[in-house]
Amino acid sequence: MTPLQPMTTPPPVRPLTEDEIRARVTALGPWFHNLDLGGVMTAPDHFLGDYPAVKWKRFEAAIPADLTGRTVLDIGCNAGFYAIEMKKRGAERVVGIDFDEDYLAQARFAAEMAGQDIEFRRLSVYDVAALGERFDVVIFMGVLYHLRHPLLALDLIHRHVAGDLLVFQSMQRGSNAVAPVADDYPFTETAHFDDPGYPKMHFIEHHYSGDPTNWWAPNRACSEAMLRSAGFEILSHPEEEVFVCRRAEAPEANAAVYPARGPEESAR
Ligand SMILES: C[S@@+](CC[C@H](N)C(=O)[O-])C[C@H]1O[C@@H](n2cnc3c(N)ncnc32)[C@H](O)[C@@H]1O
Repeated sequence: MTPLQPMTTPPPVRPLTEDEIRARVTALGPWFHNLDLGGVMTAPDHFLGDYPAVKWKRFEAAIPADLTGRTVLDIGCNAGFYAIEMKKRGAERVVGIDFDEDYLAQARFAAEMAGQDIEFRRLSVYDVAALGERFDVVIFMGVLYHLRHPLLALDLIHRHVAGDLLVFQSMQRGSNAVAPVADDYPFTETAHFDDPGYPKMHFIEHHYSGDPTNWWAPNRACSEAMLRSAGFEILSHPEEEVFVCRRAEAPEANAAVYPARGPEESAR
């Protein structure tokens, strides 16, 4: 006969001391997100200030305050600032993906410190189809300009993971104007290309701000045009670089080149 096991409760987990947190933060660094982890700031000397908190304050009112029952995907989640904020708003499930394992380790520690249950996975935006599900809210902040193939990423997000809202941000350079663009122009008409408000994306062959992963800098008109072209209706523009969008039908032509329309795709 098996002896009865005494009922035991697991010993309480001792909270980390400030020194222990500081040691973990240092070991996991350097950090891009400045987070307050039990009184220890992760990137106090960030070149953009208290980032991304300062940015978030400027557009948080444009995101539903209550995400109860909703699912969220944070693409390029870095140390998890936005993923944690979405979980704090009651989201049922939050998945954060990033290409960089070091950032994901930071995100896991930050979520643990915040007491939030978030799933973090190493995945590129180009591989979002592997997630096999759509999310009510997709966050795609600060990633587009780091990609060599930005429009492809938007197309893939639309096709595979966007269920309803897309929260988008890009570094933007050039004019902030948005010029009216006709549906078509004769071949001999070229002046509109020089209008500062025409959609333009600046290609960065070498470095920008010391970062070799800055590849493209769209102007505002280009951010808006790319979002529409990928099938996102712009609902609001609460901050200079931030657009809140709703998934809509993608214009028919945008699937013409990539991805190729095979039998599986056309069945969707
Ligand atoms: C400028 S940070 C933005 C972080 C965060 N989304 C924000 O807005 O504060 C860019 C992040 O995108 C990630 N990233 C870059 N290329 C990626 C890719 N192909 N797929 C997924 N994440 C990527 C980087 O590792 C980095 O964490």
